[in-house]
Amino acid sequence: MSAPVIVREPAEIDVAAVVALWGRCGLTRPWNDPVEDIRLACETGHGAVLAATCDGRLVGAAMVGHDGHRGAVYYLGVDPDARRGGIGRQLVEAAEAWVRERGIPKINLLVRKENAGVLAFYEALGWHDTHTVCLYRTLDPAKRDEEARMKAEWATRIAAAAKTPAD
Ligand SMILES: CC(C)(COP(=O)(O)OP(=O)(O)OC[C@H]1O[C@@H](n2cnc3c(N)ncnc32)[C@H](O)[C@@H]1OP(=O)(O)O)[C@@H](O)C(=O)NCCC(=O)NCCS
Repeated sequence: MSAPVIVREPAEIDVAAVVALWGRCGLTRPWNDPVEDIRLACETGHGAVLAATCDGRLVGAAMVGHDGHRGAVYYLGVDPDARRGGIGRQLVEAAEAWVRERGIPKINLLVRKENAGVLAFYEALGWHDTHTVCLYRTLDPAKRDEEARMKAEWATRIAAAAKTPAD
């Protein structure tokens, strides 16, 4: 990548472009709504979207926020054709700076266990496994069953794809 990469919190977010990028990075799931996630993060004042651009093209993005105690990073991804050029590192550093500037001393993120390459990336950047189990609950009872159904469907699809030999 010849032109410099700029990572910043844009004044106006191109939500469609950011969501499309996260899709190309494999970060979206049917039971999550990234458009709503962006809206909530920005409207509460406790979160933001960071965009990495190169020559005006969006090449990476992340969502960052804090709960008053810890910071958190979500949806951090770099376009597949722009990887291994330091953009992921710049996005992580920008997310860390965003949290630090708000007086929050620690930062967390979730990595799916099967994602070994991503774990190596965060380890290279000085992050480490907390050896804790992350528990969660969907608070809207109306959404809970639907979400469980979608997750089961997703797991079945992934297992079937793993069994199918590549063409
Ligand atoms: C993880 C990701 C953000 C890295 O972005 P990137 O721009 O390629 O990362 P960088 O170039 O800044 O890498 C910094 C360092 O991390 C390490 N690293 C990056 N990707 C790695 C990989 N796949 N395997 C091992 N180490 C890796 C290297 O040490 C690298 O430095 P080097 O290139 O000088 O060797 C990108 O691969 C991505 O978007 N992946 C999909 C998103 C995802 O699955 N997220 C997890 C959600 S659970």
